[in-house]
Amino acid sequence: MAVAFWNLVGAGLFGFLINPPLPLYYMQGLNLTPLHGHTALFGVYGMLGIGLMLFCLRGMKPQAIWPEAPLRTAFWSLNIGLSGMALFTLLPIGILQLQAAIGEGYWYARSAEFMQQPIIDMLVWMRVPGDTIFSVGAVALAWFVARLWIKPRTAPAKVEGTTEVAR
Ligand code: HEM
Repeated sequence: MAVAFWNLVGAGLFGFLINPPLPLYYMQGLNLTPLHGHTALFGVYGMLGIGLMLFCLRGMKPQAIWPEAPLRTAFWSLNIGLSGMALFTLLPIGILQLQAAIGEGYWYARSAEFMQQPIIDMLVWMRVPGDTIFSVGAVALAWFVARLWIKPRTAPAKVEGTTEVAR
């Protein structure tokens, strides 16, 4: 679900936003680039990697009963955290930089004078909520994986051809 969502938004929407030659002439290397870079790269391939890891864990521990609460926390926190970083910081700074690049010139949009304005400072600080939520997701995922070894709960498995159960 997450990979499909970020494929649409991160790669599709934010990729095509910066891809056409005319917009890219003004936008290249502004904050709209990491907006697309993070939402496409982590959103699509990071999430896909996590999915693949979970798939492998199923194979490595077929008897394990998964505690779903930390996984649910990880899913929502990683996705909400990534959205927070994109929407509260990278997109608004990127749009302000684009306005400056069109109005004053590309040099100005990347200058220290522009990047040290109070509004940009405030938008950079706006990363804190999203990044914090994201970190909670990373810790929840790590806890979920560690728990499969530290405190595993296993379902009884039937041994082929007997009435015995193995644990
Ligand atoms: C899952 C697919 C994709 C991934 C993982 C991805 C990843 C990235 C990353 C990490 C960057 C930043 C590179 C840098 O800063 O040097 C980037 C830049 C770029 N991407 Fe994508 N991308 C994807 C799909 C797309 C699509 C579909 C489009 C357009 C239709 C696109 C258009 C661009 C453009 C134009 C840049 C350069 C922006 C600039 O130089 O300012 N990308 N991409």
